[in-house]
Amino acid sequence: MTGAPGHRRLVRTGMAGRRRKQRNGFVLALSWPQAMVEMMNSNVALHGVTVLMLASTAGLAAGAADPTVIPRPAAVTEQAGRFTLRPGACASVPRDATALYLRTLSDAAGVPLRPATAVAPCAVQFLPAATAGAAQPSGEGYHLRVAPETAIVSAATPAGHFHGLQTLAQLLRGAPREGGGCVLPCMEIADAPRFGWRGYMLDESRHFSGKAAVLRLLDAMAEAKLNRFHWHLTDSPGWRIEIKAYPRLTDIGARGSETDRRPDAPRQFYTQDEIRGIVAYARERHITIVPEIDMPGHADAAVLAYPELDGGGFLQKGRTDKWPRFTFHPAKAETLAFLDTVLKEVAGLFPDAGVIHFGGDEVHFGWQKWPDLPGVKSLMAKEGLKDLAGVETWFNRRMAGVINGLGFKTAGWDEIAARDLPRDKTVIFWWRHDKPQILRQALDAGYPVVLCPRRPCYFDFVQHDSHKVGRRWGGFNPIEDVYAFPAALQLSADDEAKVLGMQACLWTETTVTQERRDFMTWPRLLALAEAAWTPEARKDLASFRSRLPAGLARLKALGLGAFDPAANTAEITDEQAGKPKAHLD
Ligand code: ACM
Repeated sequence: MTGAPGHRRLVRTGMAGRRRKQRNGFVLALSWPQAMVEMMNSNVALHGVTVLMLASTAGLAAGAADPTVIPRPAAVTEQAGRFTLRPGACASVPRDATALYLRTLSDAAGVPLRPATAVAPCAVQFLPAATAGAAQPSGEGYHLRVAPETAIVSAATPAGHFHGLQTLAQLLRGAPREGGGCVLPCMEIADAPRFGWRGYMLDESRHFSGKAAVLRLLDAMAEAKLNRFHWHLTDSPGWRIEIKAYPRLTDIGARGSETDRRPDAPRQFYTQDEIRGIVAYARERHITIVPEIDMPGHADAAVLAYPELDGGGFLQKGRTDKWPRFTFHPAKAETLAFLDTVLKEVAGLFPDAGVIHFGGDEVHFGWQKWPDLPGVKSLMAKEGLKDLAGVETWFNRRMAGVINGLGFKTAGWDEIAARDLPRDKTVIFWWRHDKPQILRQALDAGYPVVLCPRRPCYFDFVQHDSHKVGRRWGGFNPIEDVYAFPAALQLSADDEAKVLGMQACLWTETTVTQERRDFMTWPRLLALAEAAWTPEARKDLASFRSRLPAGLARLKALGLGAFDPAANTAEITDEQAGKPKAHLD
């Protein structure tokens, strides 16, 4: 194995990787293991499935209005007439978000608007759900009625209003201008998400994005009705969150990156004030930020800062710096006190996260030294733990208890599905696409699950066959596969009820620059947004492709460079963006 063991791309190279490449394709039927293996078809087979599916749903779309909105709304009905939003028109918007709503609508329409001053009907109105008539929206759903005199968004919740705002803004952006006004055809939209968790994970440890990039990302996510930002803040290459009780975490642990191992490299991290600001910014946009503090593996940066916490690691072939301090000492009082304190500060910074992600992945790659650590053997004897997996389980349960005690659910990568954690307080992130049985096991055990399998949800995989930099493993992750997901899993209604939703993950080993991170993210994240929001029967790849140019234009306006799959635009690599090639191994 030449890739870093214990490392997120370790499976890409070496014999094990090659064997898997032959075995694994993309389709992962969510039934029993043998059926799963049989369903592991090639990309070609998947595309066949996709095309058939789309052909069967295309009829539903035919003849229906298909406004240029991503994600595609659940139901759209054309109506007679036109609505014109004129300069100076009034908008009656939610009182606690007046500035954001007015700015969004004015910018989208290109006309100045004024807030409502009286109860008289305004050109644009945000009203309670009851005004929608018979089929009232609930939860994140909304109803938009564009009538000749007024456009009304009805919703039961602030999130519903916000999603309706985004739909209206997208319609206005694409609308023709006439006499200084912005003209929309009359229509009714009744819309609600398929999944409650529609997310994106950003790895800030391997390469740091920073506040400006994160705010821009949150803006674009909000427009696509994505509502979870999973913030991977700690890992072996760098610790990126200020913890007041442990200043060396950022004095030492925040230096360097995946491609810069100099001990005197500049520090890159978020101060607690910055984090509070970013959390508030996301909250205004109805995005919940879920922080991840990875443990007991992926701990090098923290252990470099506090060597007394060292649980040992391994050396990646040909390296001396990756990753000898991969784990926390799982049985030492100082480690437990440290992590308790870190989690307490994290809980205070993310008060409405609901969930704290504690990683829990790939621990066995770095636990070889555990049996020799003082305290581990006695812990095993005392707790009746028969092997290192038992120690890991003990550690997971203890830390999950701390997180639960702080009032949060625990989230972890799918390794924790084997740890028998409380079903009502634990969320499993299924990432190992080559282990569909783990997803089966998690669902059967009654855990809520977020779907983020490497194929097709890891955006460090290339998105076009001509692209040279990035991961491949039994194929890659073209936008079509992202869009089709999770149909290939063949989720039963029962399974789907346990699936919270889905997310894309950007691991940043091969994305040194922001330009490249944006390129790897977009427009695949638009495809994921539609896959997570739009009911299966309304998904239509041809329709998505026809709406994508507007989506790409909008990304550009937001300052986000994206791949254009229709034009097959040139791959953006870090070299082009002015940085050395990202690959190290
Ligand atoms: C992971 O990619 N190790 C969650």
